Amino acid sequence: MKLFIDTANIDHIKEINGWGILSGVTTNPTLCSKECRSFKDMIKEIAAIVDGPISAEALSMKKDEIVKEAKELASIAGNIVIKVPIMPDGLAATKILSEEGIDINMTLIFSANQAMLAAAAGARYVSPFVGRLDDIGNDGMGVIEEIMEAYINFDIDTEVICASIRHPQHVVDAALIGCDISTIPYEVFKKMIKHPLTDKGIESFQQDWEKIKGL
Ligand code: E4P
Repeated sequence: MKLFIDTANIDHIKEINGWGILSGVTTNPTLCSKECRSFKDMIKEIAAIVDGPISAEALSMKKDEIVKEAKELASIAGNIVIKVPIMPDGLAATKILSEEGIDINMTLIFSANQAMLAAAAGARYVSPFVGRLDDIGNDGMGVIEEIMEAYINFDIDTEVICASIRHPQHVVDAALIGCDISTIPYEVFKKMIKHPLTDKGIESFQQDWEKIKGL
């Protein structure tokens, strides 16, 4: 499973990218608003740091405007992917843009039906939001499972991004289902790498090495 980071924070992106494990970045308007700076500058900087797809969201609501906005965003760098919400004009714009070679990440996916529509329109990625489904008492990971099964049945090559991840177990569950990508918040990456037995092991190996290193 490929690992993306779900943030627009440059320091966090640089830190996790430094681990050598990142395959891409997803942003959304809320994440970008936390950084309080020009959206296009931010996307350009992120695209230069990470060697992989960088999702930037188009905010227009009408087909022709989405197409125009997507083309402007895609011109920022060669690795920009355009996030478009699932809605009728979003699907129509996705059809046009994907046929022109612009990769679309269809976002705000909450059902397998929405994911099938996105794939039919030519989306390169779909982003089902597991955490937000769990928040309202639904089974977020169950939706990912349904999408994966439906896509496998028809050899659909749209990649599934497990989004709205809240904790490390979401990442494990997505991997066990065979989900293509997880987009992970910075704080969850920090939890994924931690284990008390690893900390204890490093400490005792260091201490024991001290006893013999000068001999
Ligand atoms: C996906 O690409 C979104 O940015 C994201 O995962 C939304 O998650 P949230 O529910 O934590 O806002």
